[in-house]
Amino acid sequence: MENTFPKDFVFGAATAAYQIEGAVNEDGRCPSIWDTFSHTPGATFAGDTGDVATDSYHRWREDLALLSDLGVDAYRFSIAMPRIVPAPNGIPNAKGLDFYERIVDTLLEYGIKPVVTLYHWDLPQYLEDGGGWLNRVTSYALGDYAAIVAKRLGDRVDTWTTLNEPWCASYLSYGAKEQAPGLGLGPGAFPAVHHLNLAHGLMVQAVRGIVGDKSKYSVTLNMPFNRGDADACHRLDLIANRAFLDPMLRGRYPDELFAITKGICDWSFVRPGDLENAHQPIDVLGVNYYSTNRVAMSDRPQFPQDTGPSVNPGASDVDWLPTDGPHTDMDWNIDPQGLYDTLMRVHDRYPEVDLVITENGMACKDRLVVNEDGTKSVHDADRIDYLQRHFAAAKRALDDGVPLTGYFVWSLLDNFEWYFGYAKRFGITYVDYGTQERTKKDSFLWYRDFIASRG
Ligand code: NOJ
Repeated sequence: MENTFPKDFVFGAATAAYQIEGAVNEDGRCPSIWDTFSHTPGATFAGDTGDVATDSYHRWREDLALLSDLGVDAYRFSIAMPRIVPAPNGIPNAKGLDFYERIVDTLLEYGIKPVVTLYHWDLPQYLEDGGGWLNRVTSYALGDYAAIVAKRLGDRVDTWTTLNEPWCASYLSYGAKEQAPGLGLGPGAFPAVHHLNLAHGLMVQAVRGIVGDKSKYSVTLNMPFNRGDADACHRLDLIANRAFLDPMLRGRYPDELFAITKGICDWSFVRPGDLENAHQPIDVLGVNYYSTNRVAMSDRPQFPQDTGPSVNPGASDVDWLPTDGPHTDMDWNIDPQGLYDTLMRVHDRYPEVDLVITENGMACKDRLVVNEDGTKSVHDADRIDYLQRHFAAAKRALDDGVPLTGYFVWSLLDNFEWYFGYAKRFGITYVDYGTQERTKKDSFLWYRDFIASRG
């Protein structure tokens, strides 16, 4: 086995629009569900919002220069639908398209491949006002929006990713109250699951209709990996993973999913033709990986009581057990073997697609140090160790036959970590939120060398 990653292996870094851009009222952008949510008292830690974030809407040149210095092969970023289609009339906003075109073209000048996520959770508020992901109209609106972006950016985009972590966009957002819009409907999240699957397929069709097969198509999921009781793991796997991947890649929902949700969801929102629409050929499956869970079945009754707010409707009789340490600043356990296991399992189940790690990284309690010569540093040895061990796990999976073609570190910059606001730092670049000054952390310098030597 080669010690290094293959020559064409794609090393990258990732961000998302609402987490970095700020400028929420500029150039015609409309409010998104995250503007509404983050401005709701008590919704986010310390009341933090993405109003300014890392100000990347203005500092994008500086941020892309960081990427160039890092030496990445690709940059994964998201496009904000509120900038592109800011009103229900569907008319494209030229200034929004111009902004992302500048980013794509500058990346190409640097020789960096643009990897675009079309939906990273910032749904226009006007769509939410019409029912959001509970209404199939939203899926079609996303398809139309994808076509608008594809017409402008076309095949300059290397990979089109439809959705980021639909698990969060449905269960955490509509089932529980942790993310926008925070409705807490428990099993009422299943229509959102389905409409996200439908939107994925409509977006692939829309972009492919314009770009053809000159770009790659993908979707990114967090695929919660559970350890422990086999029944509990199986049930969560159906709800969290197969509820998305089976319709997208197999054109059907697993019968067992219907069985375990009997009494709490009748799936009548699945209309004829939806599964054919959701099931579109894709090239790459994106895996976001951070940690694992430990679970067991409890003897709590489930049906039909399971109707309150829930992250895993259909699994209220599953218990979440404490995980073994060490843990990150998010309190997530560090389990590189879980990355290997996830890749092996996903490949075994869906062998026809290549896999890319679209996010991996660690929140640390970073401290900015001012050196004697006035320069600044952040000594984040823990993050380097975390990344090193996860890259090693990925390499093992590659050596064991997984068609893993890339790895994106989350994140290029410290940024707005959703519910946790600015309290959690995932960046390999430190951001001083008072001055917006960027400082390369030790992990940035480590990753630069790692890429230069191909790992
Ligand atoms: C998943 C999400 O895609 C990203 O937005 C988030 O910041 C990271 N994980 C870390 O929680």
